[in-house]
Amino acid sequence: MAIRFRCHGCGAEIDAGVRLAFACPNAGLGDDIDHVLVAENEVSSFSVGNETDPFLRYRAWLSPYRLARSSGLPDTAWFDLVGRLDQALTAVDGHGFRVTPMAEQRDLAGAIGLSGSLWVKDETHNVSGSHKARHLMGVMLYLRVLEATGLPAGENLKARRLAIASCGNAALAAAVIARAAEWPLDVFIPPDADAVVKTRLKELGAQITICDRRPGEAGDPCYLRFREAVAAGAIPFGVQGTDNGLAIEGGRTLAFEMAEEFGRIGTVPDALFVQVGGGALASALAQGLALARANGLLSSLPKLFAVQTAGCAPLARAWERLDGVDLPTAARQRSQFMWPWETTPISLAHGILDDETYDWWATAEGMRASGGSTVVVDETQIAAAHKAGRLHTDIVASATGTAGLAGVIAKPKAGRQIAVIFSGVER
Ligand SMILES: Cc1ncc(COP(=O)(O)O)c(C=O)c1O
Repeated sequence: MAIRFRCHGCGAEIDAGVRLAFACPNAGLGDDIDHVLVAENEVSSFSVGNETDPFLRYRAWLSPYRLARSSGLPDTAWFDLVGRLDQALTAVDGHGFRVTPMAEQRDLAGAIGLSGSLWVKDETHNVSGSHKARHLMGVMLYLRVLEATGLPAGENLKARRLAIASCGNAALAAAVIARAAEWPLDVFIPPDADAVVKTRLKELGAQITICDRRPGEAGDPCYLRFREAVAAGAIPFGVQGTDNGLAIEGGRTLAFEMAEEFGRIGTVPDALFVQVGGGALASALAQGLALARANGLLSSLPKLFAVQTAGCAPLARAWERLDGVDLPTAARQRSQFMWPWETTPISLAHGILDDETYDWWATAEGMRASGGSTVVVDETQIAAAHKAGRLHTDIVASATGTAGLAGVIAKPKAGRQIAVIFSGVER
C-alpha cells in the first residue's frame, strides 16, 4: 500500500516512497494557494505500544513506520533504526526520546489566580531542551526508512546535506539529530544570533552561514539562503510545514502523549493554550489531538488557544479575517490571510516572533474544530508567566517556552481544566 501525502491547498497527492514528502510539488507556482503536504489514510484505528520512546510507542501512527512496513521491512527493522538513533542521541545529548512528564501544578495555578486545575507538560528535558527535536526526529526516521528500503524517493539521498534557517531551539534540535545521524547540516543564522547557541551549534559540527541582508533584498535573509540551498539540492531540515510537511508529524507525538495521560487521569482539559511562532507546534497538536480523538484516546477536544505576542501576531490577524470564510476557500487565497508582519518586533518571548505563521491553516482548522481562538498577550503578561513558571514550578523554561501560560493569564475564564506546554529550557 502506498503511503500518500496530500496538499491541503491544491489537493496534489504524492507517494512518499516515490517522491520526498517535503514541499508540495506545486509550491512556488505563485498561485496564492497555501501548499502543505499532510499524511493521508489516517482514519483507521492505530494501536499504542507499551514502549517509553514515543517513536516506538506511537509507531503505528507515523507515516515513516507505515512506509517501512508497506515496503516489506519487519517491525524489528523499525526498532533497529530507532534504537540506533537513540544510542547516538544519548552519546550526543545525554539521552534520547522518552515520554515527557505532565503534572498538575497547583501552586502555579494559585499564583496566577486560577481556581481550577492547571496541567503542565514539561518538554524542557526533551532531546536538545525543547519539543522541536520531535519534529525533526520524524523527518530523520523517514530518511532512514528511505535508505533502508532503497525506495526511489531516497535516490542519491546521502549526497545531500541537511539545511535549516533558525538560530534558536529548532537549530539546536536539528544539529543534535544531524550529529546523531552523522549527516552534515548547514544552519543559516543572522549576524546577531545568540553566542551560546552559536557555540553549541559549532560543537555539534553544524556548518554555520551568517546571513547579512543584501542590498534591495526583501524578506528574511536566513530563510532566503536556506531556500537557495534547498533549490540547489539540500534536504529541508526545518520545522515549517510549507517546506517540509512531514516535519509536522513527529510533533504530533506530543499530543498523543497528552491524550494518553488525560485518558489515565480520566479528564479532558477544557482548553489547551499553545505559544505560536511559525505554527508547527500548534498545527501538530491540532492534528495529533484530532487523531487521538478519532482513535478513541480522547473523548472530546480541548479548545485550542493559539497565543501570540502583541508585537507580532500574524495568526491573530488571519483569524479575524477568517471569520465567516470556509477554510478550503481560505487555503486558495493565502495572501488574504497570511503575509509577513510589517514591523520588526521585540519580545521577551523572542522565539515566537516569526514574521509569518507558516502553519496557520492547520492551526486555524484546529481552533475551529475545538471552539478555540487566538489570544494576543502583552509583554507584562509574558513576563508574569515566565516569572510565575520559575517561582512556582521546578521547570526551568524560557519566556518563549512559558508564553502559552501568558495566554491563560490573559484569558483566565477559558475553563476549569487548563493545559499548557513548557518547552525550551532557559539557557
Ligand atoms: C520553546 C518554544 N515553544 C514554542 C515555539 C513555537 O513553535 P512554532 O514555531 O512551531 O509555532 C518555539 C519556536 O521556536 C519554541 O522555541
